[in-house]
Amino acid sequence: MFSFFKKKPQIEEEKKISQEEDFRDIEDLIMYFKNETGIDFFNKKEIIKNKLIIFCRKREIFSFRLLFSKILEDRYLKQELIDYLTVNETYFFRETPQIEKMIRVAKELGYKAEILCAPSSSGEEPYTIAMMLLEAGFKGSDFHIIGIDISEKIISKAFEARYNERSLHRVSDTLKEKYFTKIDEFYALKDIIKDRVSFRCVNIFDENLSALRKFDFIFSRNMMIYFDQETKIKAKNILQKLLKRPEDSIYFGHADMVS
Ligand SMILES: C[S@@+](CC[C@H](N)C(=O)[O-])C[C@H]1O[C@@H](n2cnc3c(N)ncnc32)[C@H](O)[C@@H]1O
Repeated sequence: MFSFFKKKPQIEEEKKISQEEDFRDIEDLIMYFKNETGIDFFNKKEIIKNKLIIFCRKREIFSFRLLFSKILEDRYLKQELIDYLTVNETYFFRETPQIEKMIRVAKELGYKAEILCAPSSSGEEPYTIAMMLLEAGFKGSDFHIIGIDISEKIISKAFEARYNERSLHRVSDTLKEKYFTKIDEFYALKDIIKDRVSFRCVNIFDENLSALRKFDFIFSRNMMIYFDQETKIKAKNILQKLLKRPEDSIYFGHADMVS
């Protein structure tokens, strides 16, 4: 009995030593993330390091090395990390002149349009395109939009289609009234818009991407800002193959700078 009491502090001590933190080796993780997603964190190492330390501590992972080995074998943890590190900032009616241009072309092509929005984030961009098409006189049955994003969490928000005031700051009162139902502090999107858009959680570098059909128009805005030049070109070539008319242009964001 006496020896039982004596042993306990020793076990505690061993536990403490084995859980000593080591958050120095971040290079492998950043490289892995870049290879998997295209997102380049090499110039934001310190910010990412601090974010990753929080991620690890919450999960009782005591080193970046351990985190790295865990994400290689646990796809749920890998997805959690992707959800945690991706920047999903978006809002309704962002950069609308490109959408207006696409609508003019779609009218010339006979009021039919199959559109890919890659990435869609939480849905504000594809839903804006759907609203603008309806407002421009398109019938719901004449177009369909697919939104894809690498973040599973953000795709489930897109499916849910409930937004706060901040997401809608550029939506006119008339369109709010027409296309949303106010529930407490949220705006729930009506089915007339929701039905025109479907979502998938897909990484644009995944092989499954080619299983998607071909599109009349592709929007890829505010994703490539996080890629280096080589990855931008790779992503652009992948998306270009999804166009029905390969000579057409993809609509990139102004900050994406893809030549
Ligand atoms: C800033 S949001 C842009 C959303 C919207 N296109 C807009 O302009 O408002 C960037 C999105 O790109 C997604 N993303 C980053 N890398 C990706 C990849 N390899 N494949 C698919 N989506 C990716 C992120 O999850 C994030 O939701």
